[in-house]
Amino acid sequence: MGSVSIRNVHKSYGALPILHGVSVDIADGEFVILVGPSGCGKSTLLRMLAGLEAITGGEVLIDGQVVNTKPPKERDIAMVFQSYALYPHMTVEANMGFSLKLSRAPKAEIKSRVAVAAKSLGLEPYLQRYPKHLSGGQRQRVAMGRAIVRDPAVFLFDEPLSNLDAKLRVQMRSEIKQNHQRLRTTTVYVTHDQIEAMTMADRIVVMNAGRIEQIGTPLELYDRPANMFVAGFIGSPAMNFLAGNLQQSEFSASDGSKIALPDVGNINVDKITLGVRPEHFRIDLKGLPAEVITIEPTGAETQVMMRFCGHDVVGVFRERIDVAAGQTIRVSLDREKLHLFDTKTGKRIGG
Ligand SMILES: Nc1ncnc2c1ncn2[C@@H]1O[C@H](COP(=O)(O)OP(=O)(O)OP(=O)(O)O)[C@@H](O)[C@H]1O
Ligand SMILES: [Mg+2]
Repeated sequence: MGSVSIRNVHKSYGALPILHGVSVDIADGEFVILVGPSGCGKSTLLRMLAGLEAITGGEVLIDGQVVNTKPPKERDIAMVFQSYALYPHMTVEANMGFSLKLSRAPKAEIKSRVAVAAKSLGLEPYLQRYPKHLSGGQRQRVAMGRAIVRDPAVFLFDEPLSNLDAKLRVQMRSEIKQNHQRLRTTTVYVTHDQIEAMTMADRIVVMNAGRIEQIGTPLELYDRPANMFVAGFIGSPAMNFLAGNLQQSEFSASDGSKIALPDVGNINVDKITLGVRPEHFRIDLKGLPAEVITIEPTGAETQVMMRFCGHDVVGVFRERIDVAAGQTIRVSLDREKLHLFDTKTGKRIGG
């Protein structure tokens, strides 16, 4: 069992505050991903869960017990880092079994647990090799194997795939997910790759400058971002933002174009920002003009950079579009899919 509660956790290095009161409740078996820009405090938070970093304020509970002052080895967690930190002078088998050896597990048990983990990770052919004779992906698997053999209550991953090339990353992503489906070990996983977050997480915690911006399932964050930070961070290509004003319950863009708004009830601010996902533009002869800046067909879809309502925006279209840069197309917006934000606070308006 491995629920994790993070309650109003603060962290300062000397006088410098880094985390400003972070709270998350993670259920046993859940796969939670922390995302956010570089320097926002993801690794710091993870290291506090691991016991590698002192907690300045607040509480961390694992399985209902406060662990603030417990040393790492008493927390029943296993951590996998970005740099795999394998022991170079030990074989794969010895690397994977090392923590069990330290805890004085019987030799036969170590061997069998390593064998099971090696099988699940496809590492059986490599057990007698040394790390320097492995590829990056294989090393990453050994680092995971080392965590798996311990059968911990909680796995912590800090950007474990960031040293791998794109193809291997996709493959390892699916392996980690399959492993989680099989083992159901509570997992807290840090990445700044939002695709990784969207595809792997049960829930995503979006952090920014030492605070939590929003917690939710991937699609909750995508469909109903609480503010412009989350809206711009989740989704690729990113959401487009059009600044404007509210005029007679219509959106009036900075160039004077008018756009009908979704029904979000009373809006009591006048400076509003419209959020449009790239896939929510539609080619429409009755729509508003958009001057094409660049056009990038990928085969499956067409990505168009265009000047729309006085802003440079990106649209993604399923159909093929036969126009050249400099030409004007007409597009409309899927009204019910628009997002509205208070320009001043960045907060979402309406449901
Ligand atoms: N030992 C330390 N002493 C002082 N400041 C630190 C220390 N460790 C981290 N920091 C600062 O704390 C902030 C958060 O760092 P952290 O490593 O948690 O960021 P991160 O979100 O993991 O970023 P990245 O995506 O780049 O890994 C940064 O501004 C960093 O400079
Ligand atoms: Mg980090």
